[in-house]
Amino acid sequence: MSLNIVPLVDAPFGALVSGWEPTEPLTSRSKRSINEALHRHRLLVFRGQPQPSDQDLVRFVEAFGDPIRGSEWFRNAGALPEILPVTNIRGEDGDRLGVEGATDLEWHADYSYAATPAKTSFLNAVELPPEPPRTYFTDMYAAYATLEPALQARLSGLRATHSIADYMAEPDKNFAAKIERDEAAGIERPDIPEAEHPVVVHHPDTGEAILYVSRGITRRIVGMERAESSALLKELHLHATRPDQVYGHDWQVGDLVMFDTLGTMHRRDAWDPTERRLMRQLSTACVI
Ligand SMILES: [Fe+2]
Repeated sequence: MSLNIVPLVDAPFGALVSGWEPTEPLTSRSKRSINEALHRHRLLVFRGQPQPSDQDLVRFVEAFGDPIRGSEWFRNAGALPEILPVTNIRGEDGDRLGVEGATDLEWHADYSYAATPAKTSFLNAVELPPEPPRTYFTDMYAAYATLEPALQARLSGLRATHSIADYMAEPDKNFAAKIERDEAAGIERPDIPEAEHPVVVHHPDTGEAILYVSRGITRRIVGMERAESSALLKELHLHATRPDQVYGHDWQVGDLVMFDTLGTMHRRDAWDPTERRLMRQLSTACVI
């Protein structure tokens, strides 16, 4: 396969990748050029290739790390636990096929509420509404690097709690029903926990510093008064999401967006809930 990688036009970061052949195993050369491009551009849009099968998608992701079993986390019953469907489509019997909701999603980094959070994530558009919601990304390396030195010094050594307990209680209202179903069937699933991480983390491959807080998931700076913590998190959030630093992705069916989950944040617009949307989401895990 011959990959062509070019920077996105009119975007603060990101690159467009063509020439990916999903049915072909990645050569070490292709894998190296994807890894190098991801570190340089933070986000890669694979476009124009045939839609990968579930198996092809998992094999591709496995080339870049240890996949998180997302469907187990969110108690869905897919054939491949590495693939988390993000969809408002329900099965014929009304069963939920994946993480539901057509509402907007607040800025977050996938699995930051886990002890071993996501390092790299992959989002593939299978079915889109006529007016697809955009997904927005921002570069948290740049966010950290452009903080005032005094603020960088203030963040040194701080830790924060990350939790999705509120999210699970609201857009995914029937999560309690899934837990009851699994318990009745005797299926063991991981709990949705909360985790504590440094406010500034370093990418395990490059050592580069990342501002690792998000409005959607980070709840509080550990050991700080609530008002002071909220004010600091708000200041960091506003800095990280300055409009000229944000890339908004307009989806086409078949797009695979691979992004540095540790080093970026993303959010999603809402869409008409009567229109169908199906995405396949995968992540690799890391220790930070
Ligand atoms: Fe996400």
